[in-house]
Amino acid sequence: MPRLLIVANRLPVTVQATETGVEVLRSPGGLATGLMRPHAQSDGLWIGWSGAPDDLDPAQQARLDQELAGMRLVGVPMSADLVTRFYEGFSNGVLWPLFHYLLDQIPLQVTDFDGYVEANEAFAEVVAAHYQPGDLIWVHDYQLFLLPGMLRERLPGARIGFFLHIPFPSEELFRTLPARDRLLQGMLGADLVGFHTPAYLRHFALSLTDILGHSVEIDRVQLPGREVRLGVFPMGVDAQSFADLAADPAVEAEVQTIRGDGSVRILVGVDRLDYTKGIPRRLLAYERMLHTHPELREKVRLVQVAVPSRTNVEAYQDFRTLVDGLVGRINGAFGTPQWVPVHYIFRALSEADLVALYRAADVMLVTPLRDGMNLVAKEFVASRTDGDGVLVLSEFAGAAWELPEALQVNPYDVDGSAEVYYRALAMPRAERRARLAPLRTRVQTFDVHRWVAAFLEQLAELSPVGSQPGLPAGGGAARRELYQRLMDTASLLLLLDYDGTLVPFTPTPDLARPDREVLALLRALAARPDTAVHLVSGRPQNILEEWLGDLPIWLHAEHGFLSRDPDTRVWVPAAELGGSWREPVLAILRETTQRTPGSLVEVKAASLAWHYRLADQETGARRANELRLHLNQLLSNQPVEILAGNRVIEIRPYGVHKGRIVPQLSPDRQAATAIVAIGDDRTDEDLFNALPPEAITIRVGSGTTRARFRLDGVVGVRQLLRSLLESGAVAVPEQR
Ligand code: UDP
Ligand code: G6P
Repeated sequence: MPRLLIVANRLPVTVQATETGVEVLRSPGGLATGLMRPHAQSDGLWIGWSGAPDDLDPAQQARLDQELAGMRLVGVPMSADLVTRFYEGFSNGVLWPLFHYLLDQIPLQVTDFDGYVEANEAFAEVVAAHYQPGDLIWVHDYQLFLLPGMLRERLPGARIGFFLHIPFPSEELFRTLPARDRLLQGMLGADLVGFHTPAYLRHFALSLTDILGHSVEIDRVQLPGREVRLGVFPMGVDAQSFADLAADPAVEAEVQTIRGDGSVRILVGVDRLDYTKGIPRRLLAYERMLHTHPELREKVRLVQVAVPSRTNVEAYQDFRTLVDGLVGRINGAFGTPQWVPVHYIFRALSEADLVALYRAADVMLVTPLRDGMNLVAKEFVASRTDGDGVLVLSEFAGAAWELPEALQVNPYDVDGSAEVYYRALAMPRAERRARLAPLRTRVQTFDVHRWVAAFLEQLAELSPVGSQPGLPAGGGAARRELYQRLMDTASLLLLLDYDGTLVPFTPTPDLARPDREVLALLRALAARPDTAVHLVSGRPQNILEEWLGDLPIWLHAEHGFLSRDPDTRVWVPAAELGGSWREPVLAILRETTQRTPGSLVEVKAASLAWHYRLADQETGARRANELRLHLNQLLSNQPVEILAGNRVIEIRPYGVHKGRIVPQLSPDRQAATAIVAIGDDRTDEDLFNALPPEAITIRVGSGTTRARFRLDGVVGVRQLLRSLLESGAVAVPEQR
C-alpha cells in the first residue's frame, strides 16, 4: 500500500499552551478518535490544525514540534483571526448548521468565506510540501471542501480521496449556499468522494446535476478528461479495542461502582455539547417519562456526558445555557435528598471511563436531530461483550441505516420518545439480547480498519490522472515494446474514435465539427505508406459523410453498424436493417418525449435513442428509469440491448458494437502490422476487447479500461498521430 497522507482540520491531538510548555490532549469528535488508530498503525502523515495558539514562545513551539513529529503529525499553523473566520465563522457558523438541517442557527448574512478559502489554501501549501509521488492523499470533512480542487491544480497526477463525515443535505437546502458551485467544484478535485450513507450520496449527485449540470451515473461523474468516483463507506469503530477495554478489570470495577446495588436503572447519553445532538429534547422526553410513569422516580437515572465543543461560537454558548437550564429544572422538580434524576458531566471522559459507562448502561440514548454517522452508538454496541443493553437510536443518525435492530426514535417527537425510553427500560432480557446480537456482528465485522481499507483500496486502484502526452519512451517494458513496434513495423492499422479522442467535447454535438488541423492530420495519415485509417464513431452515417466524407479513410457509423470503405465510398450495413421491435419502441419513445419537455428521439439506421440532456434533470432521470423498466419487459425476448449512456437511452440490435469492425488480417499480415486503437469511452472498450493482445490500445482520459496505454486528452492524441508521420520521433504515451 502506498504511503497515506490523512488531511483533516483536526489533528488527533489538540495542543494547549501551559506555563511550563504545552499540554497535548485527545481531540474531540468521531473523526479524530476514529482515525487515530489507523493512523498509528500506518507509516503515513496526518496533516491538520493542532489547535495551538499562534503566539507560542520559542520554547513552547520547540516542544510542540517535537510532540507532533513523534506522532507523525504535521501542524498547519493558523492565526487567531483565521480561526475566527474559517473555523468558527464559515465552517461551524454556516456549513455545520446548514448540513444538519438547522437553518435557524445560520446567521442572516453569510460571511467569512474568504477565511475559508484562505485556510484551505494554507492546507494545500502544507500538503503539497509533504507530498511524494505515489502517496495517497485522503482529505476529510466539511472544513476542507475546497482542498481537493486546490491540490488537483498543484499536484495534477496525485491520487486524492475525499470523505464527508457529516450528512450531505438535500439538494434543495444545499443550493441556498452562495458558495455552492465552488464547494462542489472543490470536492470534484478528488478521484473518489465517499459518504456514510446512500442518501447523502444521492443528495450530492443531485446537487452536481442541478447546480453544475454534470450528469452522474450511479457511482461516477465524467468530467472533461477525468472521472470522479462516488461511493458509500459507512465508518466503523475499533471494535476490538472497545472489547479489550470492556474486559479490563479496572473498567469492570468502575462499572460496579456506577451500578451500585443495581436498584436504579441507568440511561446514558454521550455527546459533544452540540445543538445537533438532540440533548434538550432528550431531557424533555426523560422528564415526560417521569411524569407519565411516576413509579420510575428514584428508580432511574440519566447520566449525560456533554463534552465542551466550539465554545467560542455564539450558537454553542446559547445552547449550553439552554441545556444547563433544563438539567436544573428537571433536577429541581423531581430530585429528592436520595436521588438526582439527571447526572450531568460537562467535560470529556477517557476511553476507559466511557467504556465503563457504556457497560453500566441499561439504555443508551443516541438521539441526535441529525448526525452524519454517530460513532458513540457503535462504541456502545462494541463495548457490550455481555450481549445485553438497549440502544435507542435516532432515525436521523447515519448509523440508523446500518443498525435497524436498535429501538429507533424520531427525536422531534418528545412524547413518542418518552414512550420508547420506557419501552427500552421494560424490554425483556431475551428481546434485548436478540436485538443486540445482530448489531454486534455488524459493528465487529465492519470496523474502522475495514472502512479505511475499503476506501483506500478503491482509491489506490484508480489510475492516476495526468499521464503526460508526448513523453519520450523509457521505463516499463511495455512502453519500450510499443516504441519498438511502431519503429519496426512498416504497416500500420489505425482505429480511431472521434468525439473526445480526435476532437474535444462541445456543449452540443453539432459544434464538434472537425477543425482544419484534424482533417489535415487524417489526410496525411491516410497517405502514409502502407497505412489504413479507420474512424469508428457512434455518430450517424449522414454526419460522418458530411464532415469527413471527402477523406480517403474508412468510416464506421453507429458504433460499427454501417461502414464505408475509402475506395467505393458506399455505406454497407453490417446486418439487416429494421426488426419487428422498432415500431413499438419508437411509439413508446415518442410518447415519453411528449410527456418530457426538452427530450427528443433520434432515429438511426440500426438503433433508436431517446435523449434527455435538455429536460429538467429530475424529471428526465425519473422518466429514463421508467422507460428502461418498460423496455426491459417489452424487449426481453428480442435480439436487442438497452444501453443507458450519458443522458441518453439507446436501443440497438444485439452484438452491434465497435468490436465488429476489426478487419480480419491473415496471421502473416497481422505479424507485420502495428495496430493502434485509440478511444475515450465505454464503447471503445468493445473495440479494445476485439483486438489481439499485442495491439497498441490507448485510452484517452481516466476510467477503468482494458487499454494498455493512456493519454490525457485530444492534444496528446494529435501529438501521437503527428509523430507517426515523422519516422524516428514517436511520442509514446504513458503506460496505463
Ligand atoms: N468521546 C470521548 N470522550 C467523551 C465523549 C466522547 O472520547 O467524553 C468520543 C467518543 O468515543 C466518540 C467521539 O467522541 O468516538 C464522538 O463521535 P461521534 O461520531 O459520536 O460524534 P461527533 O462528536 O463526531 O459529532
Ligand atoms: C464532528 C466533525 C469533525 C470534527 C468533530 C469535532 O465529528 O465531523 O470534523 O472534528 O465534530 O469538532 P471540532 O470542531 O472540535 O473539530
